[in-house]
Amino acid sequence: MTITSNTNKTTYKILVVDDCKPILEVIQENLRNASYIVFTESEVEKAIEFLAENKVDLLITDLRMPNLSGLELIKHVRENFSDMEVILITGYPSIQSAISAVKEGAEVYLVKPFSTDELLSSVNLVLEKLERRRRAHNIEIPAGSYGIIGESDAMKKVFKLIRKASETDLNLLISGESGTGKELIARAIHNNSRRRSAPFVPVNCTAIPENLIESELFGYAKGAFTGAGETREGFFQLAEGGSIFLDEIGDASLALQCRLLRVLQSKEVVMVGSNRVQNVDIRILAATHQNLPNLVSKGLFREDLYYRLNVLEIKVQPLRERGEDIFLLLNFFLARLKKGSNLSSINFSDEALQTLKRYNWPGNVRELENFIQRLAFLYDGEEIKSSSLPVHMKSMISGGTGLNKTLAEVEDEYIKKILDSVSGSKTHAARILGIDRKTLREKLKRILK
Ligand SMILES: Nc1ncnc2c1ncn2[C@@H]1O[C@H](COP(=O)(O)OP(=O)(O)OP(=O)(O)O)[C@@H](O)[C@H]1O
Ligand SMILES: [Mg+2]
Repeated sequence: MTITSNTNKTTYKILVVDDCKPILEVIQENLRNASYIVFTESEVEKAIEFLAENKVDLLITDLRMPNLSGLELIKHVRENFSDMEVILITGYPSIQSAISAVKEGAEVYLVKPFSTDELLSSVNLVLEKLERRRRAHNIEIPAGSYGIIGESDAMKKVFKLIRKASETDLNLLISGESGTGKELIARAIHNNSRRRSAPFVPVNCTAIPENLIESELFGYAKGAFTGAGETREGFFQLAEGGSIFLDEIGDASLALQCRLLRVLQSKEVVMVGSNRVQNVDIRILAATHQNLPNLVSKGLFREDLYYRLNVLEIKVQPLRERGEDIFLLLNFFLARLKKGSNLSSINFSDEALQTLKRYNWPGNVRELENFIQRLAFLYDGEEIKSSSLPVHMKSMISGGTGLNKTLAEVEDEYIKKILDSVSGSKTHAARILGIDRKTLREKLKRILK
């Protein structure tokens, strides 16, 4: 089985502590340019608070600071976090402080002023060591697997289920909000299963017109109807030996559900205009943003089909419930953008990062990805401050949209924001808002008036 684990440096988190702001900024910039995730604090007390809430891989700390010193911070880290590396920097080199620092557990000792190269090679050195240690102790490298980024417990569970699901041929249902990565997961399972060299065929269950269900799914024979000039295979023949991905299964019409149920039971298909029964060898993967048991109880989804699909289930948590993944994803998308373009660097201020962490991401990972793309081109080479972030991100966090707005204004703003987060797709926006497309269209007419 091939597992592609994403262990590049874009996923390491580094906290830099120094009471001298200009030095802090230079180090931060150098490390961010090298694609690390960087946080800064100018006081030891604040750093301790930060570490209580955020997991980091490496601490870089100054030695002499007012109040608590860097040595005390190192001691705190050694006592509380076993899986963290430490680099000490100081402008006052002395044998004594170096000895103390090493005794307390600093890996590397850097004397100011140091060059960017010196900084980066020290950082590389300790992070390589950290990675070797994690491997040796079999600590899961937290960046993610299968090209899917995430280190939250929720995502670790998903990775485990992907591995299990890849080893069997059982039907699987993936559920989760829009933009949480359901299709990514389905592809990962196919690509890690014994079927990987056969096709993965996605079928959008909302996009098949009622009168074309049979011919789309099972194909048609030449001459089956007017216009059938050639024999054409349907999704099920195309996926032979591989996997079919029934996307948006919760939105399938009852007619489609009925047809799917039959083929899932019999594993046989017949082309329109033919009477030859074909056996198909296909793995079924399905996904939905809907709550299927709910639909079943309302009579909108067939219970028998639900049980057939739901032999295995993967539930993907919304991004707001796995805040630990936000910085990882942010850095992953930034690094990917940089690779494919001539963008120089994109930096976020610490305050902006905290805003992003607390924002509720209704469009999930897709929203984050779009957001970063837009921002990267707007702010190439500049630091993104909290003040440069869209108003809706900040207003959502501060727990209100302003106390002087009418309900209609708040609604308009929210609708615009959601549309923005899904790159203008009305289908997605309507889904997130929990209204149908028609209602959304009406509301947009009002907004755009
Ligand atoms: N954990 C992740 N790591 C990296 N990229 C991700 C992750 N989750 C989602 N994405 C990216 O976010 C986007 C949306 O993912 P995907 O299409 O799989 O979502 P979905 O759950 O199928 O959404 P929808 O219900 O709207 O169809 C894609 O570009 C995908 O690559
Ligand atoms: Mg999808």
